[in-house]
Amino acid sequence: MSRTRTLALAALVAVMASPVLADDVADGQVVFKQMCGACHTATAGGKAGIGPNLFGVVGRKIGSAPGFKYSKPLTADAAAGTKWTKDSISTFLAAPQKAKPGTAMAISVKDEAKRAKLVAYLNSLK
Ligand code: HEC
Repeated sequence: MSRTRTLALAALVAVMASPVLADDVADGQVVFKQMCGACHTATAGGKAGIGPNLFGVVGRKIGSAPGFKYSKPLTADAAAGTKWTKDSISTFLAAPQKAKPGTAMAISVKDEAKRAKLVAYLNSLK
């Protein structure tokens, strides 16, 4: 293979591997509907369901959505004033019971790419 073709191929692979944010948000919304929508609303002022409303959750104080009764660990975070970040939400989603032992959130998202998309989507809700 010529050097030019090798470089072109390398550039193509790099483009394909780099995250495209707008697509991540759209993909994340689809994953959210499939995996999270049964328990969570994600619109401004959305009602709490089995889980709390997640509009604006990135940067929001943990355990602070109105009208939802949180578990002990999340209530303790709320009292301490700890806020969710993109990283801490990703860690939480990977293994909720490990990140916040005793949390009422039962489902986990093992797939890193899916988690990244979900976090991109959650981060877009503001
Ligand atoms: C079976 C219901 C259920 C599903 C499905 C579910 N959750 Fe949850 N989620 C909860 C509950 C209940 C809580 C409150 C946890 C607590 O109080 O410990 C919660 C809490 C959270 C929190 C913390 C919110 C806050 O205000 O501090 C985030 C973030 C979250 N869920 C994201 C997700 C995402 C993303 C998905 C989809 C991958 C998902 N959840 C799927 C029930 C669910």
